[in-house]
Amino acid sequence: MAIPSPTSAERREELKAVYTEACACTRCPQLAATRTQVVFGAGDADADLMFVGEAPGAKEDEQGVPFVGAAGKLLGQLLGEIGLSREDVFIANVLRCRPPGNRDPAPIEIENCQEYLWRTIELVQPRVICTLGNFSTKLLRDDPTGISKIHGQPEIRVLGRRAVRLFPIYHPAAALYTRSMLGTLQEDFARLPGLLELPPPDQPEPEPEPELHPEVVPDALTPDEVAEPELAVAPEEPPPSDDQLGLF
Ligand code: URA
Repeated sequence: MAIPSPTSAERREELKAVYTEACACTRCPQLAATRTQVVFGAGDADADLMFVGEAPGAKEDEQGVPFVGAAGKLLGQLLGEIGLSREDVFIANVLRCRPPGNRDPAPIEIENCQEYLWRTIELVQPRVICTLGNFSTKLLRDDPTGISKIHGQPEIRVLGRRAVRLFPIYHPAAALYTRSMLGTLQEDFARLPGLLELPPPDQPEPEPEPELHPEVVPDALTPDEVAEPELAVAPEEPPPSDDQLGLF
């Protein structure tokens, strides 16, 4: 029997649950110890267009929101030039925590954090994902080809269980360092409205759910003798507010 797809409201609630989980994440000990807060991502939980950057910087770490520094200003400007705003899209990063001193994300950190990104993509269900720069492009394409070779070239990729149009472009920070890059970024951005007008890519057949087998209780034990699983101790801290998700 086909399983009904979750509604938009259900996906939004699940996204908040993933956010709450990420806020308590300590998979990368150094990042967990040095971050001010987790920068999960923000925007329209139902966006057709999602951006994936690299990692939060100082301003993002301070405010808990992605792309609020100089690169974020430029991202906002580029969006404005194609008639969109931050509220129309969902913005996330490869890493949810700021690497100290804005160093590059380490391979183990990318590995640790990628589950949050896959789950975000699965829940937001964007049609187009625009990777900003090398880190997100290499991760989402699962390929080491650099951004300078493939920027501005859309392709259909299956990410997790969803087919999306992947559109790699330069990271806006590149244009802050090399002004001549701005024209290239603007040209690539100008392709986005056309990509969003294309019909959504065909989705892969859903994989059959694994059959559930009833748990086998050893003969020698009566159900009363079966040990209760140990309950995890509830965290003392109140759950984080989901304001910084800025869901629209
Ligand atoms: N650069 C990124 O890649 N992400 C941010 O959130 C900010 C700057």
